[in-house]
Amino acid sequence: MAKNKSSYVCQSCGAHFGKWAGQCSDCSEWNTLVEAPNVSMPHHNKSAAKSTASRGTPRTASTAATGNYSGTHSAVMPLNAVSVTLDTRLPTGISEFDRVLGGGLVAGSVVLIGGDPGIGKSTILLQTATNMARADSLAGSALYVTGEESLAQVAMRAKRLELPADRLRVLAETNVETICAALTQEQPAIAIIDSIQTIYTDAISSAPGGVSQIRESAAMLTRYAKQTGTALFLVGHVTKEGTLAGPRVLEHMVDTVLYFEGQSDSRFRMIRAVKNRFGAVNELGIFGMTDLGLKEVANPSAIFLSRYDKPVAGSVVMVSREGTRPLLVEVQALVDDSQGSPRRMALGLDFQRLSMLLAVMHRHGGIHTSGQDVYVNVVGGVKVIETGSDLAVLLACASSIKERALPSSLAVFGEVGLSGEIRPVPNGQERLKEAMKHGFKHAIIPKANAPAKGAAQFKGINVIAVERLDDAIESAF
Ligand code: TYD
Ligand code: MG
Repeated sequence: MAKNKSSYVCQSCGAHFGKWAGQCSDCSEWNTLVEAPNVSMPHHNKSAAKSTASRGTPRTASTAATGNYSGTHSAVMPLNAVSVTLDTRLPTGISEFDRVLGGGLVAGSVVLIGGDPGIGKSTILLQTATNMARADSLAGSALYVTGEESLAQVAMRAKRLELPADRLRVLAETNVETICAALTQEQPAIAIIDSIQTIYTDAISSAPGGVSQIRESAAMLTRYAKQTGTALFLVGHVTKEGTLAGPRVLEHMVDTVLYFEGQSDSRFRMIRAVKNRFGAVNELGIFGMTDLGLKEVANPSAIFLSRYDKPVAGSVVMVSREGTRPLLVEVQALVDDSQGSPRRMALGLDFQRLSMLLAVMHRHGGIHTSGQDVYVNVVGGVKVIETGSDLAVLLACASSIKERALPSSLAVFGEVGLSGEIRPVPNGQERLKEAMKHGFKHAIIPKANAPAKGAAQFKGINVIAVERLDDAIESAF
């Protein structure tokens, strides 16, 4: 038999190479390549690995090397003969969690859930597992595998959260072969692996937690999930740099990637879908932390508004859209004389975009910020990714510079282009309705998003439709 050839795995980005090099040619990190025996990853380049992962189907060729845990073999068949029951949605019992998943958990899907330690990953998954174990359709077929905590700790957590623990099965184990054997025996409809960083495979000699261990273990579990239709949650810890150890490897392998975001000192928790084969990307689930675990927030818009009694300069409410729903979010700006070289800071927004917007405001709005510090912050720790926030950001800066408050009954949205034009954003009418629902009386919005004049459903709101940044500034002040 041919001797297994070694390959090298970058411990930073997970790329595979046939040869050792001092610098990873993929992510440019130095001294990160570590030798890994080439057991089940016969690809020496990343694009091959990628295409395998993104197909999301089991590879029978590689199961020969690592074992086939479901005991079934894939067969070639006509496309129309494939049963399409895979897209069954299983409710998790927490409506906001169903929302980020794209409407419930899909059977046979693999979900990676990442976040800082202590943010609530184990809590929400234990809630989900106990809820789902009690669902009639699943009839107790949920398995929670803990590699971090003892069974007693998990039981204590369930008790503290007052979760019904009678139907959920638990296993404390870190060896992936043993876990797969247990899954094969128990055949749960959903399984939770908390966390993937603690899991290791006998097939590789390196220590648990390294990229190759994570990748191999996750690949084996993913293969099991795909072959049996088991829905799988993998918990992943985020490192200091804000990414999972071996992140790209796992992100490509799984169907859905969820991250906790926001401030850990806040009472609220947000989970964002950064990838989802079964739902909208950037969908945001919003939860409140309680003694009994994470609970859905009924009116999420309300938590991102600071609600002063009096309007204050530098504050503007925008109607953002995260995933599939509009959200009212307050943006605050402080522009002040600089004591040295001017600083720009953006919390919850893209820093580069802020610099660009300030340049547009100088050229096309006649308001300059040179020699001044500009700080912009989104209230509530939410990250605003879409460009519909542009106009609100600039009006907040202008309001701070002019030291003039905008009315607290005003809501704003719109993208700002490099030539000072105000561009439309998706779902404009839905955003207007959200503003009306929360009692806003005026809205400055892109002309192309404006409803037809006299439209009955927008009677309650005074729509100011603008085409250019200078129009917007003039109508605001
Ligand atoms: P935990 O779920 O253990 O975090 P992670 O698995 O992401 O590291 O949560 C940390 C602690 O916070 C834990 O002691 C439970 C507590 N907690 C609550 O009491 N209520 C909640 O709603 C949440 C999210 C956490
Ligand atoms: Mg945990």
